[in-house]
Order: sequence, then C-alpha cells, then structure tokens
Amino acid sequence: MMPSSFTIGVLLLFLFVQMAIGADPLYHFCSTNSGNFTPYGPYDQNLNKLLGNLYYKTPLTGFGMDSEGQYQAQTFGLSLCRGDVSSEDCMSCVVNASAEICKRCPNNKAATIWYDQCLLKYTNSNLFGQIDGGIKFYLLNINNVSDPTSFNLATKRLLSGLSKTAYTDPKMYAAGVIDLEGSKKLYGLVQCTRDLSSGDCKTCLEDAISDLPSCCDGRKGGRVVGGSCNIRYETCSFVNA
Ligand SMILES: *[C@@H]1O[C@H](CO)[C@@H](O)[C@H](O)[C@H]1NC(C)=O
Ligand SMILES: *[C@@H]1O[C@H](CO)[C@@H](O)[C@H](O)[C@H]1NC(C)=O
Repeated sequence: MMPSSFTIGVLLLFLFVQMAIGADPLYHFCSTNSGNFTPYGPYDQNLNKLLGNLYYKTPLTGFGMDSEGQYQAQTFGLSLCRGDVSSEDCMSCVVNASAEICKRCPNNKAATIWYDQCLLKYTNSNLFGQIDGGIKFYLLNINNVSDPTSFNLATKRLLSGLSKTAYTDPKMYAAGVIDLEGSKKLYGLVQCTRDLSSGDCKTCLEDAISDLPSCCDGRKGGRVVGGSCNIRYETCSFVNA
C-alpha cells in the first residue's frame, strides 16, 4: 500500500544486519527529471555557494536552508542533522554530504543524499514547505521478534506519541523509549525537515508510520526515510542521550 504523496521516484528496500554506522551514505538519489547543468556555468556556481552556506548554517541549529541565484540558474537546498547529533558531527556530516553528492550526482540539477546523521538535498525549483513525495526508502533489521502482534502495536504507539511531540516542537524532532514486557525496551526517533508546517510534519510522519505494516512487520528494527521526514525504531539504543 503506497501513500498518496508517493507519486514519483522509486521505493527501495534494504536489508541490513547491523545498524548502519560511520561514514557511508545510506542512500542517494540523483533526479533525472530536473535536467543537467553545465559545469562551471551559473547553476554550478550557485550550487557551490548554496552548499557552502548550508555547511556554514546547519551546525548552528541542526537545520539550514538557502537559495542562490535567479531564474533558470536558481537553486534551493536544505540540510538537516539528526536531532541528537553534536554540532561538530553535524558539520562533518554536511561536509561529507556535499562532497559526496557532487561526486555521485555530478551535473544533476536536483539530488538528495541521506546519511545516518544528516540529510542534504537541493533542487532547481522551490522545495520549501512541501512534503517531498519524490523518494522514500526502508531500512529494516533482518531479525524478527517472537511476538509480532504486540510488538507492532507498541512500535506504533511509541512512534505516534513521538510524532505528537515532534510536530509541535520547534526542532521537529523527538526521541524516546518505552518498556516492553520482560524488561525489554523499545527506542524510537521521528524527525521532519523544519521548512514544513506543523500540519505537514504531522501528515509526513503519519504517512511514514502507516508504512510500517508493509515494510517492517515484526522486525526488530526499522526505518522509513524520506526527503521531508523519517522515523526509526530499534530494540537497542541508537541515539546520543
Ligand atoms: C566524514 O568522512 C570522514 C572521512 O571519510 C569520516 O572519517 C567521518 O566519520 C565522516 N563524518 C560523518 C559524520 O559521517
Ligand atoms: C523474518 O521474517 C521474514 C518474513 O517472514 C523472513 O523472510 C525472514 O527470513 C525472517 N528473518 C529471520 C532472520 O529469520
């Protein structure tokens, strides 16, 4: 079942044994719909300026957005660090993301790259304040729980509760933990890009949560990751306190 905002792009399914850590991107997407730019041309120059500004702005609050240039050469971009990440790690992640996105999508006028600790994207049309329906991917733990029915309910309860906190929070981020039976714990995280309105953040997170039965049924850990919001749950802690 696909949410209505999911119109273009592809849906991906990754299986992974261990939690992704470290320097490699989780995924990247070079848009082919938006066309290419000429190396060293006006779009390229504006994009360089934009990426420089994002790297400068984002670590201050964990979120940055910017637009550079005009008309055909205008570029819009944003970057978001995970809510618990230090400003040093945030900066390092955004620096890596801008270098890597230029390498992987050399002339694309629009692209997105996701890391464990940050997201960076740019396009040639105004993307601010709209839920990005372009791409969404799932990451899931290969291991299953023994009691999927109650576990799925707990997951939904945790992430729905966190969503309520996030969409009314200026940082649009929430992380938390609940107790499961047998002194087990369930950890969760939800986050939206801060260009969204509170209502759109809510919609984006609810859409992501509604994907859980199809992507992550009974899995010990799962993530739904998009260009405007992401959700994650695990049975072990994964955020910095
Ligand atoms: C950035 O890349 C460097 C070199 O590959 C790596 O050591 C570092 O951990 C990366 N930083 C982040 C936050 O991913
Ligand atoms: C978990 O369940 C899925 C779906 O039933 C199955 O394909 C997968 O192999 C299971 N994982 C393990 C580690 O047994």
